[in-house]
Amino acid sequence: MAAADPWLRFGYTFRDCLKKISDPLMCVAPEFRDRGIGTNLVGLAEKIAFRRDKNLFIFVSAFNAGAIRLYKRLGYKKIGEIEDYNFRGVSEFIFRKTTGPRLQNKKIA
Ligand SMILES: CC(C)(COP(=O)(O)OP(=O)(O)OC[C@H]1O[C@@H](n2cnc3c(N)ncnc32)[C@H](O)[C@@H]1OP(=O)(O)O)[C@@H](O)C(=O)NCCC(=O)NCCS
Repeated sequence: MAAADPWLRFGYTFRDCLKKISDPLMCVAPEFRDRGIGTNLVGLAEKIAFRRDKNLFIFVSAFNAGAIRLYKRLGYKKIGEIEDYNFRGVSEFIFRKTTGPRLQNKKIA
């Protein structure tokens, strides 16, 4: 993680990452990228998440073109943007994938 943006870009060391980052984060070591590992990790997260809920939300830095491409390819849709979330001047995009509405309409229309 400390070898990847945005942490690398903003000078975060391995130790800083351990201390500061509490959100679950996906990271594949650079030498193992582009072999489908990221795709499989997202698939695993979906398997776990969709057992419990109908939605999976992902935050991704606006400049992280590679990760954004991956999420779009896997069916995630951009639903929002939060400015200055991790760092000043950097937005996080919110991506969502859903398997349907959370609740059922029990009344017959
Ligand atoms: C984003 C990240 C997790 C993707 O991991 P990855 O293992 O490289 O992901 P994949 O291999 O599944 O997909 C990456 C590309 O390889 C391609 N690919 C997948 N399997 C492949 C294979 N067997 N052979 C060749 N290419 C392949 C995919 O089509 C994809 O292409 P694209 O960039 O045009 O979309 C990784 O780049 C990373 O750790 N980045 C730094 C941390 C980060 O940004 N995390 C996300 C924060 S939200």
